[in-house]
Amino acid sequence: MEWVFLEETDSTNRVAKELARQGAPHGTAVLAKRQTAGRGRLGRAFFSPEGGLYLSVILYPQCPPEDRVLMTPMAAVAVCRALEQVCGVSAGIKWVNDLYLGGKKLCGILCEGCGDAVIVGIGLNLYTPEGGFPAEIPATALDVPVGRRVLAEAIRQQLLQPGEFLAEYRERCLLLGKTVTVHPVAGEAYAARAVELDDRCRLVVESCRGREALDSGEVSVRF
Ligand code: BTN
Repeated sequence: MEWVFLEETDSTNRVAKELARQGAPHGTAVLAKRQTAGRGRLGRAFFSPEGGLYLSVILYPQCPPEDRVLMTPMAAVAVCRALEQVCGVSAGIKWVNDLYLGGKKLCGILCEGCGDAVIVGIGLNLYTPEGGFPAEIPATALDVPVGRRVLAEAIRQQLLQPGEFLAEYRERCLLLGKTVTVHPVAGEAYAARAVELDDRCRLVVESCRGREALDSGEVSVRF
């Protein structure tokens, strides 16, 4: 089984986890036209109306467990490459898991572990929904005629043959050189300058607290 196509589901990541538990092979993918309980990072809901591409791909990475954190940046570059290839669109990456176009969010990525598998979940706005996007995060859509399945298969292929991705991630990273606001898991938000991405794809920032490498958490910026 390579593909599961659904009109609607609660969450393609949930369906993919279920398939992984049943032994679905590397590269099995679930694609839906809409989700009723789409999941985002940090336990948030992910707005998933008709007009989006909601894709989850099951991968069994061969890397050591500590390298699994690199799956999210790898997936971000894979989606950018597929967008270039299929639509001629060049997206930027807002560390660590969001793709932006024209200063607005186009796509979010949520990687979740499930035993030996990693579920790479991708939510990409193909078309602006009726009534527009919620106000919280400025969002945008491709709004060009593109086959959902064609783009999804291009993304899947890129995920299956990722190759080197860190250099491209750095080139596409929208935060470097910018003043950002860091929102630590605990404690007050603070301003910092994003100076580089290290070889673990951690965001190195400088602030009145000194120099530090962030490996997760939230960073916001004004584009
Ligand atoms: C984020 O922006 O916080 C990440 C969003 C990831 C959403 C995708 S849509 C397909 C897959 N299924 C889910 O429930 N979530 C991911």
